[in-house]
Amino acid sequence: MTVRAPSSLHSPHAPVMLHEMLASLNIRDGARFVDGTFGAGGYTRAILDAAECHVYAIDRDGTVEKFADALRASHPKRFTFLSGAFGDMERLLADAGVDSVDGIVLDIGVSSMQLDEAERGFSFKRSGPLDMRMAQTGVTAAEFVNNASEADLTDIISHYGEERAAKRIAKAIVAARAEAPFETTHQLAALVAKTIGRGNGKIDPATRTFQALRIYVNDELGELVRALEAAEKLLAPNGRLVVVTFHSLEDRIVKRFFQSRTGNAEETFSRHVPVTANANAEKPSFTQPTRKALAASEEEAAVNPRSRSAKLRWGIRTDAPAMTEPFIPAKEIRHAIF
Ligand SMILES: C[S@@+](CC[C@H](N)C(=O)[O-])C[C@H]1O[C@@H](n2cnc3c(N)ncnc32)[C@H](O)[C@@H]1O
Repeated sequence: MTVRAPSSLHSPHAPVMLHEMLASLNIRDGARFVDGTFGAGGYTRAILDAAECHVYAIDRDGTVEKFADALRASHPKRFTFLSGAFGDMERLLADAGVDSVDGIVLDIGVSSMQLDEAERGFSFKRSGPLDMRMAQTGVTAAEFVNNASEADLTDIISHYGEERAAKRIAKAIVAARAEAPFETTHQLAALVAKTIGRGNGKIDPATRTFQALRIYVNDELGELVRALEAAEKLLAPNGRLVVVTFHSLEDRIVKRFFQSRTGNAEETFSRHVPVTANANAEKPSFTQPTRKALAASEEEAAVNPRSRSAKLRWGIRTDAPAMTEPFIPAKEIRHAIF
């Protein structure tokens, strides 16, 4: 079918690689889709506008309810919002009476709304409470920074932030918090800048530390692993899995998932942990029309800087049973990607 252009993109979050996502998802009348990262609803609206299909949208951030309300009003019979984490999508969908879908899309990461609202504490550019919790429950970034051991801080900042100066930053955090606990994003950003300097000025020195804390506080990699495994179980034969990521840690997980499930697990997952090869390589649970990640077009990159780091990978579910073995054990995630 021809994918119809979305009717409305007036949104506080510019959806990234929207057209590539629509083209990969095989949207058609009567089909059921999951948008695991609803956000401002840009993807969901475009999918609903493309055909007479149903979208089950998931988000763990309660502040997106207002965008869900707008879609409930415009598409009352074809839109269902499920509040929760996409790592729990099997249960969330089962509660809605759904055990199989035709397509699942994930647009991983934070939304522009989350970054722009200082009080959410995601941004080193705006001073706000050092929070970073998408679901607004659990341990805040401040609680972690103020209580974690120096070794744990080093570990998290080094692994999740890919920050070479992690040890120095962790040491400086421990010394500074003995004077006064960290409360704001600016306090931490200033300490990181003071500790490691401004570098070549291309990116803020706090970028990697903030990325690490955000990934830790929201268990972002664990969520991604659980979602990929759930998608394998939920997708009907010929169903599509489309994942857009924004940094290499996530992209590597998605890439290795597809390698494992298409029977192309010839590379090792890391120096330490071999990827789980498909036990039945004759019957892979996914095929991939292209194993190369798609990137945003030059046109999109010119108007939306956020799209420059985006990578889209997608696969098609076969009729083989889902593998029972996890493609990577959750407890190994942090160590497995390095
Ligand atoms: C990049 S935005 C998605 C934007 C959306 N595609 C759009 O067009 O508006 C990511 C969204 O996913 C949500 N999110 C991130 N991780 C999640 C998780 N594990 N479970 C549920 N929602 C999650 C965030 O709260 C955020 O609203």
